[in-house]
Amino acid sequence: MRVDVVTIFPEYLAPLRLSLVGRAREIGVLDLNVHDLREWATDRHRSVDDTPYGGGAGMVMRPDVWGAALDTVVPPGAAPPPRLLVPTPSGRLFDQRVAEELAREPWVVFACGRYEGIDARLVDEAATRMPVDEISLGDYVLTGGDAAVLVILEAVTRLLPGVVGNPESLVEESHSQNGLLEYPVYTKPPSWRGRDVPEILLSGHHANIGRWRRDQALRRTARHRPDLLGRLDPATLDDRDLAVLAELGWSPAPPGG
Ligand code: 6GU
Repeated sequence: MRVDVVTIFPEYLAPLRLSLVGRAREIGVLDLNVHDLREWATDRHRSVDDTPYGGGAGMVMRPDVWGAALDTVVPPGAAPPPRLLVPTPSGRLFDQRVAEELAREPWVVFACGRYEGIDARLVDEAATRMPVDEISLGDYVLTGGDAAVLVILEAVTRLLPGVVGNPESLVEESHSQNGLLEYPVYTKPPSWRGRDVPEILLSGHHANIGRWRRDQALRRTARHRPDLLGRLDPATLDDRDLAVLAELGWSPAPPGG
């Protein structure tokens, strides 16, 4: 997968040399290119922003500087074009489904805004040449899109083939297909500060362990993310699941309701 990031803080993306994303680059699964937006500024102050038309606080990034940057990174006529992602708190929500979708893309370009954002014409114009998504991490405001790019790239890179050692771990983890948060995990020592690892995990009885883990996943989801329970497909719940959920005061919506 090829990824280009255009930002006024290229150093912000330095951590992408580390850990799993760094490894993905080393093994050639991820081809990451970071560009400094100021290279496309034309005045002697290398400015990339100006005051907002209509008034108001802050500064807005200029479409001409951004347009020149995108024309270089995505030469006109590039076929197929990349998918352009613009991190912004007013975008559509990023989640594991979006991460899975992006992991299938051959080429993604991130346009990192700062200040009050990028002139709205940039997205409109880019959308005539390539698919564009404005993406938000959640309901809070970051100073710029760079931290969001770190998050999105970490979520996407670990889904690329060969990056995570044991692909099984992608299946069981939180927010994977089963729609539940992950069960709690334990390792040695078996007893620590008076707290014992749940006995069932030492039993070697795989079916019982699997059932216990699912119970725990249901409980955690009910406690931390009750909204996710409402999105479960009732067909994926067995009698035991329903009993656990009933104990927590939750019952599935009637079909069609
Ligand atoms: Cl993607 N960008 C910014 N600037 N703020 C955010 C965000 C993104 N997601 C949540 N808040």
